[in-house]
Amino acid sequence: MTILVLGATGKTGRRVAARLRADGVEVRAASRSGETRFDWTDRGTWAAAVQGVEAVYLVAPEDPSPIEAFVEQAVAAGVRRFVALSGRSMDKVAGRFGAGMAEGERVVQASGAGWTLLRANNFAQNFSEDVWHEAVLSGRLELPAGDVREPFVDLEDVAEVAAKVLTSSGHEGRAYDLSGPESITFSEAVETIAKVSGRAVSYVAVTPAEYRSMIVDSGWPAEVADELNELYAIMREGYLTTPSSDIESLLGRPAGSFTAYVERTWAG
Ligand SMILES: NC(=O)c1ccc[n+]([C@@H]2O[C@H](COP(=O)([O-])OP(=O)(O)OC[C@H]3O[C@@H](n4cnc5c(N)ncnc54)[C@H](OP(=O)(O)O)[C@@H]3O)[C@@H](O)[C@H]2O)c1
Repeated sequence: MTILVLGATGKTGRRVAARLRADGVEVRAASRSGETRFDWTDRGTWAAAVQGVEAVYLVAPEDPSPIEAFVEQAVAAGVRRFVALSGRSMDKVAGRFGAGMAEGERVVQASGAGWTLLRANNFAQNFSEDVWHEAVLSGRLELPAGDVREPFVDLEDVAEVAAKVLTSSGHEGRAYDLSGPESITFSEAVETIAKVSGRAVSYVAVTPAEYRSMIVDSGWPAEVADELNELYAIMREGYLTTPSSDIESLLGRPAGSFTAYVERTWAG
């Protein structure tokens, strides 16, 4: 069985590929700079990526336009299963945020192949890779998240679930909510990082207007600021707040706590 892992150099994809390989599964690790070249914007790269593949870990691009054609081509080439990464409550907030993820959900459900949706909360690793890392290192994480609570999910759990769902049956037609075991505020998250790492770091709640100015001033287009603001609005409205037990049900053990992630990642 060969599994195509898209976004294979990214935060989830590289963990999914590593876990599958550790389990002895044949993996085709694909992205623009990956072992197998795959580019959503270059259809010439798709055929070689999907050839001989039974299942796909699908990390949708932000631009939804190529997803349907890719999934059609993959099914025509023999792909029988898609496991699509998505976001918590995407079924309730589609149209407001995450056009690529929403299209990924829609297209795999209409594909005729088996599909499973992994609707993940904000990743714990957003604090240490990519999204909020630079701000945490600077000592000041400014977000329009108020004092909302979030059950940040550990990507090691996301990868373990993805590997299981990609390689076993019984998950077809299911949407799993992947969260950590407890909801904490951004202040509490950053306090834990500060305590374990010995770094001075604080969370500062800013208004959506202040956040928009910060993002635009740092060189991003206004549309990016507006889309990010929409995500934080969705979070403040409580769509991502409730912990889910799906990881525990799937893996037979509790989901990893935020503290465990911090102790593994931030200990000086
Ligand atoms: N961050 C969160 O808390 C969170 C929570 C829930 C859902 N999500 C969703 O997770 C997805 C991102 O997944 P991730 O965090 O695992 O990835 P990531 O760390 O953001 O990395 C993006 C991956 O996509 C690849 N990529 C970028 N542009 C590409 C293109 N044109 N063609 C092919 N591959 C391309 C990148 O590799 P190359 O540069 O080599 O191409 C990389 O492997 C997004 O849909 C996001 O909305 C995120």
